[in-house]
Amino acid sequence: MALATIILAAGQGKRMQSDLPKVLHEVGNAPMLAHVLATARQLDSARIVVVVGHGGDQVAVVARDIDPDVLIATQQNMLGTGDAVAQALPALAGFEGDTLVLYGDTPLITPQTIARMQAARAAGAALVVLGFQNPPGGYGRLVLGDDGGLEAIVEAKDADAATYALTLCNSGVMLGDAGLMAALVGRLKPSARTGELYLTSIVALARAAGHACAVVECPADETEGVNTRADLAAIEAAFQARARRNALEDGVTLQAPDTVLFSQDTALGRDVVVEPNVVFAAGVSVESGARIRAFSHLEGCHVASGAVVGPYARLRPGADIGVDARIGNFVEIKAAEIAEGAKVNHLSYVGDAVIGPRSNIGAGTIFCNYDGVFKHQAVLGADVFIGSNSALVSPLRIGAGAMVGSGSVITRDVPAGDLALSRARQENKPGLGARLMARLRDMKAAGKRP
Ligand code: UD1
Ligand code: CA
Repeated sequence: MALATIILAAGQGKRMQSDLPKVLHEVGNAPMLAHVLATARQLDSARIVVVVGHGGDQVAVVARDIDPDVLIATQQNMLGTGDAVAQALPALAGFEGDTLVLYGDTPLITPQTIARMQAARAAGAALVVLGFQNPPGGYGRLVLGDDGGLEAIVEAKDADAATYALTLCNSGVMLGDAGLMAALVGRLKPSARTGELYLTSIVALARAAGHACAVVECPADETEGVNTRADLAAIEAAFQARARRNALEDGVTLQAPDTVLFSQDTALGRDVVVEPNVVFAAGVSVESGARIRAFSHLEGCHVASGAVVGPYARLRPGADIGVDARIGNFVEIKAAEIAEGAKVNHLSYVGDAVIGPRSNIGAGTIFCNYDGVFKHQAVLGADVFIGSNSALVSPLRIGAGAMVGSGSVITRDVPAGDLALSRARQENKPGLGARLMARLRDMKAAGKRP
């Protein structure tokens, strides 16, 4: 069955105390809206409509950036969830199939849960609502009939005592025939209490017209929404717990799972080993068999199989670490390709560079890529050896098999196979070391200073 997804994202999120629209706050280093869009895409939604309101231009820009095919509908006034869905309907004109309603501030709902709702649709329910168990509080209550079917959704503030006591609650996620939902939304009347149009009221309308409605239940942690910063922190924790579980199930070793942080798009291959206290910021992929050692921070980078990174390594955007390469402690890599088997093992900065296969970059080497205005690139061939504590001033080319003597400042290209030395020549003064030391000791004995 073809699917269209409407994502409600017009809310301001007043209680976030923020200038940023609520759905743009991040979980796993991606806007909450990105998580919901990813779910909609995984469900093969033929159309995705994002309903924006507060900060709508900003939300629309981010939504289109994540998925250029999304349709944007604007809700001028916050007149309720029913009104929000009504604003999305023109964008669904001509669509035949099912409509799914998701909330932009509820990022943890899984495609698997929606698939169970689709199964309930296939089993004959015209409308399917996602429910969860919750002690009596602010959520809408799901009122079931004797046959277990859904009869109505009652908002907490409109509930009588018996209904208020119900623990089966409305997550807000709803799935139904597109034509029927559009027709029912068109018939909604403003709430006497608030003047809003409640999407939830279409259940009673559907029942009155003889349509079967059903509830699918899911764990409460999936339906958790964000209203406050504390909620955001709780959702982040739930996201991280899920990401760790998924990584372990996918064959990744996490030595101390609770100390590893993931992003929405982190991709780790089979048999990757992650030591404690590693941060995967946005845009990281690590291929099978690589090892990320303790206290490393990775962002926007790729690590090929067999490579070892860290401990205490920092991979910044554009770092591409080749097969079996080694990146050691206190090494920072940015926009640089480190080819197969190359080593940068200690205390180095490598920015805007290509390092050829099997090359070795000595301890404390700095790639001077920035002249204060422009960035420049260094290209090193295969099997290059850079002595410790060298400065390589870009733009620079160092040919295959060349060597650079330790402590050099290299400003000119080095042809393949050459040895480059760029430092003061060493001088030895015979016996002077011992004589100088004796004089200093004598001074100290006499209570003097040099
Ligand atoms: C809604 C449900 C309630 C359910 C709860 C789950 C209704 C009437 N009530 O209540 O049964 O238990 O969600 O969290 O639907 N939004 C708009 N435009 C609007 C109003 C809301 O885009 O005019 C968006 C919000 O940004 C939010 C979502 O819809 O993402 C839900 O709105 P919210 O005001 O939080 O609904 P609740 O009153 O919590
Ligand atoms: Ca809410």
